[in-house]
Amino acid sequence: MNAPAEHARLARQHLIDPEICIRCNTCEETCPVDAITHDSLNYVVAFDKCNGCLACVPPCPTGAIDSWRNVEFVKPYSIEEQFSWDLLPDTTELDGFEASVAGADEAIPDEVQQLTEAATAGQGGPALAPWSAAHPYVNLYPPARPVTATVTGNFRLTAEDASSDIHHIVLDFGATPFPVLEGQSIGIIPPGTDANGKPHLLRMYSVASPREGERPHYNNVALTVKRVTEDHDGRPVRGVGSNYVCDLKKGDKVQVTGPYGSTFLMPNHPGSSIMMICTGTGSAPMRAMTERRRRRRDQKEGGELVLFFGARAPSELPYFGPLQKLPQDFIDINFAFSRVPGEPKRYVQDRIRERADKVWAMLQDENCYIYICGLKGMEAGVLEAFRDICRAHGADWDTLHPRLLANARFHVETY
Ligand code: A2P
Repeated sequence: MNAPAEHARLARQHLIDPEICIRCNTCEETCPVDAITHDSLNYVVAFDKCNGCLACVPPCPTGAIDSWRNVEFVKPYSIEEQFSWDLLPDTTELDGFEASVAGADEAIPDEVQQLTEAATAGQGGPALAPWSAAHPYVNLYPPARPVTATVTGNFRLTAEDASSDIHHIVLDFGATPFPVLEGQSIGIIPPGTDANGKPHLLRMYSVASPREGERPHYNNVALTVKRVTEDHDGRPVRGVGSNYVCDLKKGDKVQVTGPYGSTFLMPNHPGSSIMMICTGTGSAPMRAMTERRRRRRDQKEGGELVLFFGARAPSELPYFGPLQKLPQDFIDINFAFSRVPGEPKRYVQDRIRERADKVWAMLQDENCYIYICGLKGMEAGVLEAFRDICRAHGADWDTLHPRLLANARFHVETY
């Protein structure tokens, strides 16, 4: 066994686990010093740029980002090596010794320090779950050990003539424990290989059913999945994961990983209110939370539910029928339709502005938790609406926003 002195100075190298990473780009967008980059296969961390600020760790949906190896300071894993990995390298004897993160013990230049602080302050430090959220299980089934689920239902949610094909899929885990909470996601591994001959990576989907199952006390979950037929620029593509899932038949077997997510969770304490803002399939976690509350209505725990839901038209809106049947004293629903012939285009942020007084009251209520899920473009519009509402009430969004984050009252999942 080598003694530490025989190695040059040790460093803790920040890496990304290629087996778990779903290549969502969140880490690259978050990194305040541009230490993260990617090629067509892997996301990687540049040893000489990473200062160990950890800004990228909380937003990572899978935890792939939180991977570390001890290396000799003069011999870190290069970016080229990391691009070639299918798996993280095994730990070595070096991992048994104390080591500091490469850049953390170097003087961090002022401008980098400011960027790092801005990145973490904007998120109120690490993301937190509401104090009364139930304890989530995370990553019980990693990609190397998925669980096999059986499809017990697959129903189209949008009208036959609607432009989007959104499905409600029910997966049953049989006797295998698969505990999930509202707001968590699961991974599905499509069968077959990608263009490089490698097994497909998992695709993540938010669970649309409450913790006790789509069918109460069955070991099953529901998902809301939109068939992807074009990319962000409108060019035709065939989404591998979504087409696989939307085409599943009753009885088919599916490889499932997860569950994932430990902060986008609903509060459970009596009197806690929930404001939900979503577009399209971003409604999945909102359906899960609403259904949890609906099933417990007779407990009279109090707390309000307010929903802002954006879609092109009623026929394009998943769960439109069932949502309309919910009593108004249970949930305050605000639809925003953008493509109804003869009607002005409306986005969720327009409806939020129209309900400024209600929204302001909820922003002020320490027991109100806010959830945003859906199109990335919607996020900026919603934040701008909150800013305007604060201004109209003589308050400052830039002061309130970090407070909401620090109190785990503000949760965003956009894509
Ligand atoms: P639009 O008609 O402009 O596409 P999708 O059906 O593509 O999932 O979108 C769901 C809803 O979100 C649609 O009504 C869509 O409107 C709307 N939307 C698109 N961009 C934004 C945005 N920047 N802010 C809010 N809503 C948006």
